[in-house]
Amino acid sequence: MRIEKFKFFGLVLALALALPVSAETIAVIGTGNVGGALGPEFAAQGHTIIYGTREPRRADIIELVARTGNGATAALPNAAVAAADIVVLAVPGTAAVDIARGLGDLSGKILIDPTNVVSREGSYMMHGVPGKGSNAAMIQAALPNTRVVKAFNTLNYQQMVNPETAGGPITIPLAGDDAEAKAVVAELVEGMGLEALDIGPLAYAHVLEEMLIVWAQARGAGNAFNYYLRRTPE
Ligand SMILES: NC(=O)c1ccc[n+]([C@@H]2O[C@H](COP(=O)([O-])OP(=O)(O)OC[C@H]3O[C@@H](n4cnc5c(N)ncnc54)[C@H](OP(=O)(O)O)[C@@H]3O)[C@@H](O)[C@H]2O)c1
Repeated sequence: MRIEKFKFFGLVLALALALPVSAETIAVIGTGNVGGALGPEFAAQGHTIIYGTREPRRADIIELVARTGNGATAALPNAAVAAADIVVLAVPGTAAVDIARGLGDLSGKILIDPTNVVSREGSYMMHGVPGKGSNAAMIQAALPNTRVVKAFNTLNYQQMVNPETAGGPITIPLAGDDAEAKAVVAELVEGMGLEALDIGPLAYAHVLEEMLIVWAQARGAGNAFNYYLRRTPE
């Protein structure tokens, strides 16, 4: 009897150690390339994913939920964010600010913004003039009580899932005004086998959005690269 009890507590302890420090509920808004890459990755780290989608009953969403596992579900975007502490805004960049505004009360929540503003023709608009704004800053201005972190916008969704295919480490630069929120996102990044680098406040998010311009330009010219920012030794 006593041995059975020890076995039981041993199993509970082993399960607790296998889980991340805090398992969160993460709402992934948008079920396209990026949502479909990040959702399963975060679920594999022990988090519970709730996809926020315009059509929760669509066949590809049902397949994505099944592929994600770990108790994943799908709901309309507002219901998804209401249940979550962390929100990933994996939606078209041109619609991101309006979609964020329509999500309801996000006070205190962390919002991860991977968006880039790409026009239908594939050129980058960057709100008119480079250096004069970012989607992330516009989202933060629209949702002042939300902890916005710019992340995951400077690499392809395929390398988010399989960073080893890049031939070396990849940096995920983070920008945001809330240090604790950036630390939470850094943990998610590192859990994917990518390297997180805090580049500073959200005011610099426009730099990250512009990094995508040169990334895409080089890729189009046959010089594809990924960002790897090597830390200077202490
Ligand atoms: N593709 C990449 O490799 C990559 C890498 C880094 C960053 N990004 C950025 O991340 C964001 C998402 O990219 P993605 O490639 O995942 O885009 P995507 O494949 O087009 O998916 C976007 C998703 O957003 C949802 N959505 C909500 N409102 C929408 C609307 N009005 N029109 C269209 N879709 C809407 C849709 O999900 P539901 O149908 O389920 O609602 C859709 O599947 C973009 O801002 C992109 O610039 C992309």
